[in-house]
Parts: sequence; C-alpha cells; structure tokens
Amino acid sequence: MFVTFEGIEGAGKSTAISHLAEFLREQGHDPVCTREPGGSVLGRSLRSLLLDARTGVLSSRAELFLFLADRAQHLAEVVRPALEAGQVVLCDRYTDSTLAYQGYGRGLDIEQLRSLDQMATGGLKPDLTLLLDVPVRCGLERAGERNKALGTVVAEGRFDAESLDFHERVRAGYLALAAEEPDRFAIVQAAESPEDIVLQCRSALETCLHLRGRGLD
Ligand code: TYD
Repeated sequence: MFVTFEGIEGAGKSTAISHLAEFLREQGHDPVCTREPGGSVLGRSLRSLLLDARTGVLSSRAELFLFLADRAQHLAEVVRPALEAGQVVLCDRYTDSTLAYQGYGRGLDIEQLRSLDQMATGGLKPDLTLLLDVPVRCGLERAGERNKALGTVVAEGRFDAESLDFHERVRAGYLALAAEEPDRFAIVQAAESPEDIVLQCRSALETCLHLRGRGLD
C-alpha cells in the first residue's frame, strides 16, 4: 500500500509520518518511510542541489526535471521494491508536490506536468494521499523555527525563501487537486496540535483500509 503525505512547508508531515509508522509497527507491519526529494542515493545529491539557497535561481524547467529524475530513481530503487515485497510505503511528497509547486506555484502547464510525471512514474499512483492543510503564515512560521533549530537556513532554504504569494498558490493548488480526487485524498486540519494531526491521519488510514476491504499489503 502506497501512502503519500503532502502540504506546504511546516505542515507537520515528518512528525505525522513517524507516528503513523510507529502505529503500523504496533500492528505488526514493517513500513518503509521515505521522501522526495532525496529518497535514493542519486536523490540525496539532487536534494542538495534543489534545496540549497546557494544554488541560486534555477529555471522552472530545470528544477522540474531534477524533481522528476529524483522520482524515477526513487521509485526504481526504493518504492517499487518495497511495494512488491508487500510493505506499506509512507512517502513524504510525491507527484502532487510537482503539480502544486511547479504547476500552481511556478505556473508550468498542469497537463504537461501530468504527462511528464507519468513518464517518470510509469503511472504509479498513491492509494491514499494525506494533505496536511495549514494556513500559510502558520506553516512558514513553523518551518522557520525548525530551520533555525536544525541550522538549515541556507542549506535547505530555497523554497522557504519564496514569497507568501507563492505558498498561497501552492496551498490553493493542493486543495484544488484534492477536490478533483476526493477518493484518493484525505484533508487533515494541520493547524491543530501534533497529537490531533496524528489522530486525523490514523483515522484516514483506517478508513481507507476499511473501504478497500483488505489488509495493509
Ligand atoms: P523539504 O525539506 O522536504 O520540505 P518539507 O520539509 O516542507 O517537506 O523540501 C522539499 C521542497 O521541495 C519543498 O519546498 C517542496 C519542493 N518540491 C517541489 O517543488 N516539487 C516536487 O516535486 C517535490 C517532491 C518537492
């Protein structure tokens, strides 16, 4: 089963993923937690190029193809093998990030993005996408605090440094994507406490499993 987590910076995806993984382990499963960009060996190099503010201005298209290269390698090296082995994959960001950031944020054509992404993924879609939705100011404040604590202001700050407007477009884009595919998406109110976010994620996961009427494979 393939579960993806989406949202603007500071929505709380990493905390939600680690709690959900713990929950799955308690149920006797062996989940794989991974992320984009940076889930593969190649991806870790691409991640530093993509997120480092010192990379400077990348053209939107160059940026897009780096994210897609990261995704293609990540699927081949990590995601597909885990799914084939029957594991649950919890992935921090996937195709919807490309549609939201490069499409709604940067203004690249959504239909073109869908077809290029299809080429990178071979059409692999998540079974469930948890969209952690948070007002932009709240998300950016949280991300700022996290960056300060981790000392990542320059090394991973290229997107955090984008304008409020950019992040508003990304957030609105995510909500539009979720409205198009209500069966795949669950919207989590992520301005709440971390405990409450985890409960909402858990309940969406359980609902999805129940609706699918099968186990976690
Ligand atoms: P990351 O540090 O993982 O952000 P977060 O902790 O908020 O998830 O950085 C990933 C950044 O890359 C994030 O700003 C979103 C951006 N991104 C895209 O623009 N397009 C994509 O396809 C992906 C996967 C990420």
